[in-house]
Amino acid sequence: MIDFSNPDFMENPYPALAELRKVGKPVWHEESQLFLAATYQDANAVLRNRSLGRIFKPRTPDEDWDTFNWLHSDSLLDSEPPKHTRLRSLLVKAFNKNKIESMRPDVERLTEQLLKNIEAKLETTGEFDVIADFAEPLPVKVIAALLGFPDEDEHLLRPWSQAIVKMYEVNPSEQTQLEAQQASQEFAEYVRGLMVERKRNPGTDLISDLAAVEEDGQKLNAQELIATCVLLLNAGHEASVNGFGNGFVALMECPDQFDLLASNPFALADTAVDEFIRFDAPLHLFERTATSDVEIGGVMVKEGQKIASLLGSANRDESVFENPTEMDITRDPNPQIGFGAGIHFCIGAPLARMEMTTSLPALMVKYPNLRLTEQPVRRPGFVLRGYESVKVTNE
Ligand code: HEM
Repeated sequence: MIDFSNPDFMENPYPALAELRKVGKPVWHEESQLFLAATYQDANAVLRNRSLGRIFKPRTPDEDWDTFNWLHSDSLLDSEPPKHTRLRSLLVKAFNKNKIESMRPDVERLTEQLLKNIEAKLETTGEFDVIADFAEPLPVKVIAALLGFPDEDEHLLRPWSQAIVKMYEVNPSEQTQLEAQQASQEFAEYVRGLMVERKRNPGTDLISDLAAVEEDGQKLNAQELIATCVLLLNAGHEASVNGFGNGFVALMECPDQFDLLASNPFALADTAVDEFIRFDAPLHLFERTATSDVEIGGVMVKEGQKIASLLGSANRDESVFENPTEMDITRDPNPQIGFGAGIHFCIGAPLARMEMTTSLPALMVKYPNLRLTEQPVRRPGFVLRGYESVKVTNE
């Protein structure tokens, strides 16, 4: 059975996930007390079945967990209808495809700026870090700008969000728990301050828009506003950083695919980005809880039991994808489910796609000969899969 904390599994989970798919139905994982749905069909069914909900289970009801708990229970991601429908409806306009497309020129400018900084770095040190210098700052700056999070405090975002999302791994350590509690409190207080300030002094950002809805008192309360903004600030960059990093390393490891993209970066950007997400998913596991007895893939999940959808495994299912272990940046159709499915389908998917289809070709045009200068360093973890650093040179 899969050992989620085994370093070899974390380094490369795909052989073990392929074995799990061979079972052909969800498998009970005793240590985590949940079923694992590994095939495309089962993982997809878990996300779409309305008898399976995202039910947030508060951590031990003590004061230290208070903020962490409501940051989750009052957010869009951890709510079910009718609350989920109400919260999601407040965000749909801000994230619709046309609205996101109108932000592309800003993202192009931001990308140019990052590439200028990289040029300077290459001149002095001969190398740069794809994560720290490119994949990370771009989505952080974009989501911060969209919400109206002040530039000068942007550096606070990644550490807060990292401390919180580490709790999503299986069996987080004592230290991880303490850091998550502290980050939750600081982050929530900070966003509360922004909300109060935007009520007095509204801008054109999303926090100002939501603050006006909150003041109206019909559709949103203060806790829901803070929880949803913290979710957007976290979800708005964590997976994007890792999606870009995972895909780009895989691309460099397949020279024919790298050269193909370098030869036609704009035309191939759309299919390449979907293949990045399919090939090495940045988010691997999402849990659901049965609200009544329900059958998935021939297995009965009893009311109250949990089942996990394994997205990265589904995206390598040999019955859906031809040559699933090979990266093919021209793959079309590509029905990958790395952005989820059903009512919780990623609201930020158009934004993530727009960011990546802008930044990836720009990087390839400027640096068509990038290669690794050292073995990239992975962050430990399975649920959120990504690299700590990816050092490259263009020499
Ligand atoms: C490559 C980048 C991204 C990936 C792979 C990704 C993936 C996902 C997945 C799989 C879910 C569904 C979770 C579930 O069903 O339990 C989700 C939900 C969500 N994502 Fe993303 N995401 C990405 C980028 C973003 C961005 C840029 C935003 C910024 C707005 C965002 C905001 C959200 C939100 C708010 C939800 C909750 C939606 C709901 O519950 O209705 N994501 N994402």
